[in-house]
Amino acid sequence: MIHIKWWAVTAAAFTITQISAPTNAADIAAGRKRAEVCMACHGERGKSEIPGVPNLAGQDRDYIVSALKAYRAGTERTNPTMAEMAKPLSDADIDNLSAFWNSLSPATTAQK
Ligand code: HEC
Repeated sequence: MIHIKWWAVTAAAFTITQISAPTNAADIAAGRKRAEVCMACHGERGKSEIPGVPNLAGQDRDYIVSALKAYRAGTERTNPTMAEMAKPLSDADIDNLSAFWNSLSPATTAQK
């Protein structure tokens, strides 16, 4: 019974933290899952092997969010490949994806 009570307290504290810090609400694990489709081009660790495909590892979160929203909207960014990739993404997907790619160590030329 004591365990159940501690779980309740922990869960409540966690919920409050999430509400008071919306910028930390993004889910890296969910982002990693959603990112599987991206890895074919952007690399499993966010280091692209394909000419013309940018690295995403360690990229700024807000920058990734605004880039994906721009591809989805098709106004400022009109790349057809990325427009296709961004079209099905929800705002939550975009937040999670951005948190995931940002969480990886920045790509360097030494990294494979
Ligand atoms: C078929 C290959 C391919 C796939 C799959 C792909 N991308 Fe891209 N991505 C590209 C290319 C090519 C560009 C450069 C487009 C341009 O010039 O605007 C790009 C650009 C981007 C950029 C802009 C980076 C910058 O530095 O401005 C982001 C962010 C991005 N992709 C995220 C994603 C995410 C998230 C996914 C998965 C949901 C994904 N991409 C899947 C090919 C791909």
